[in-house]
Amino acid sequence: MIFVDSTTVGWRSFLQAWLESKKDVKVVLEYFIEKYLDKILMFKKRQCFEPVPITDFSAIKTFVAIYDSIAFEPEANLKKYHASETAFSRSLEKWFLFCLIWSVGGAVNETGRVLIDHRLREIDPQFMPLRVIYEYYIDPKSNEFEPWEEKVPSIMPKSCPYYDMVIPTIDTLRYSHIIASLTSTNHRVLMCGSTGSGKTTMAINILSTLPQFFSGLTLNLSASTKSSTVQSIIESSLEKRSKDKLGPKDKKKRLIIFIDDLNMPKKTSTQSPSQPPLELIRQLIDHHGWYNREKSSWQHIFDCHILSAMTSSNGRVIPSRIQSRFNIINFVEPAEQQIVHIFQTILNSKFQSFPLDIKLQTVSIVKLMCRLYNEVKTNFLQTPNKPHFLFNIYDLSRVFQGILQIDKEHINSQTCLFRLCLHEFMRNFSDRFSQNDETRFTKILKTILLDHFGTDCKDLMTSSLGDNWNGPIYSSITDDDDNTTFRGNSGAYREMCNEREVMSLLRDKLATYNSNPINSHLDLVLFEDAIKHILRIYRVIQLERGNMSLIGNAGTGRETLSRIASNIAGAYFSMFEVTDNYIRKDFLEGVKTIHIKQVLRIKPLFGF
Ligand SMILES: Nc1ncnc2c1ncn2[C@@H]1O[C@H](COP(=O)(O)OP(=O)(O)OP(=O)(O)O)[C@@H](O)[C@H]1O
Ligand SMILES: [Mg+2]
Repeated sequence: MIFVDSTTVGWRSFLQAWLESKKDVKVVLEYFIEKYLDKILMFKKRQCFEPVPITDFSAIKTFVAIYDSIAFEPEANLKKYHASETAFSRSLEKWFLFCLIWSVGGAVNETGRVLIDHRLREIDPQFMPLRVIYEYYIDPKSNEFEPWEEKVPSIMPKSCPYYDMVIPTIDTLRYSHIIASLTSTNHRVLMCGSTGSGKTTMAINILSTLPQFFSGLTLNLSASTKSSTVQSIIESSLEKRSKDKLGPKDKKKRLIIFIDDLNMPKKTSTQSPSQPPLELIRQLIDHHGWYNREKSSWQHIFDCHILSAMTSSNGRVIPSRIQSRFNIINFVEPAEQQIVHIFQTILNSKFQSFPLDIKLQTVSIVKLMCRLYNEVKTNFLQTPNKPHFLFNIYDLSRVFQGILQIDKEHINSQTCLFRLCLHEFMRNFSDRFSQNDETRFTKILKTILLDHFGTDCKDLMTSSLGDNWNGPIYSSITDDDDNTTFRGNSGAYREMCNEREVMSLLRDKLATYNSNPINSHLDLVLFEDAIKHILRIYRVIQLERGNMSLIGNAGTGRETLSRIASNIAGAYFSMFEVTDNYIRKDFLEGVKTIHIKQVLRIKPLFGF
């Protein structure tokens, strides 16, 4: 075996070999390499932070990949259309820079992007001001930098489940342009970035808009994923072409395998650098195949391509060997402007048929929610004894999911609308707080409301149920007792206005629960906190993909209240009793049992 040190060989010989294939533009490209490449590589190393560090060699490989997949065609066009050589080289310089920022500067964080932008302006101050260079694309017709922002279409989301809605933003446009170009020219991409930066959304969007000669497969890795599981999932999308050859089921299509959370699989031991599922994926990439586990014979795999994503903020790294097989693009957290755009578009679509005074409030709602979100994020930090103080865009997204439950018959004024928004915000954020934090949050909330609405905010936080209720309460709970179908008995989402009615409603529900002989008798006293909790749990069960973790001391009623709330929602309640000796097998058995019961009862699951 001969070891070759990457610093000895360096990236120059690789780049030189590539330049040899560039014939006509070789001299111009050499000039740009001289002008920019070394300086930016050096600058990045000294000044910029990369959440997932890449080597110079990887950066250059990505540069070549992006250039070949994006700038190839313009290069041909440029030669055709530009009579003047200076104009041609000026246009080519733009394409060169575009490839440079998304390769050498593609893995840096947000601050790094600004620094690289400054450095490029120092080298040549020809760039357009106003925005950082990452916010521009090159219009292939004019060969000029144009802002991505102007390309963002203002479309209404299709009627689809909330979690499937993807709103075009600068990020979706620029990342999908680069990733789709690289993918269609057989270059692998690894999307990195902090949690909630939109990697999975982007991949799913890319898979759903692939040209017809591609098909997609999504594979989610976790700490317990084994290499055999990866192999069998991928093989399930393949078919035998001949004795030792496998290919996608549809012969005319190429299979894009999206591997999410690539850095999750466990290492074989703390000292070992290897994560078996990743080694198998690397083998597939390098050798286009793997061994059949039963026959131990080699199987060639054709027409498969890998796209992957991983969260860089969870501290897990992958071996540099597999990392080097990918072109790395770092996803920065969406800017507030983009978050506002996403949720404003979703609300605009929802409120289309609502009265005008409601429709006009979407901007104000989104701004208020984003401001509250930022305040909570900065004032309520995660500590060892408050691990659940982890607020990200997922929570904000759930606030808007909650708002979408309302229909126009139950919103008759702007005040009503803002009360709903505050209710959703509190359910997603302040419900995690203890008494002290809640008091602190209420103070912050009051200040922000005063600032946002002036003195008109008095009515927003008063509860129609009584002084102790801390804000308005919305629910879809009704006195309809047909709980044979899940969500079949839920009423319209509306504000609860009468404490006595709510109490008697829940008392009736409890009586119905107790009257069923298969339920163990619950002797509940429905005091105020118990009612609050039942309504909160019921609300989450009703939401699509609603998950909840109930935290509290023993005896605070988490199990009992979940039982009753799931019964009201018509959901099947099942409990996993976790003991000291609880192992993975027990969990899988438990999941199997509730799935069998679900099939028999035709009701959704509600595990506890
Ligand atoms: N363009 C968009 N349109 C609609 N929703 C979006 C968009 N971008 C992000 N979101 C929302 O932001 C949230 C986070 O997105 P996503 O799950 O893709 O992040 P991620 O980077 O994969 O995070 P993680 O590292 O935790 O897996 C989701 O709730 C998603 O619906
Ligand atoms: Mg994800």
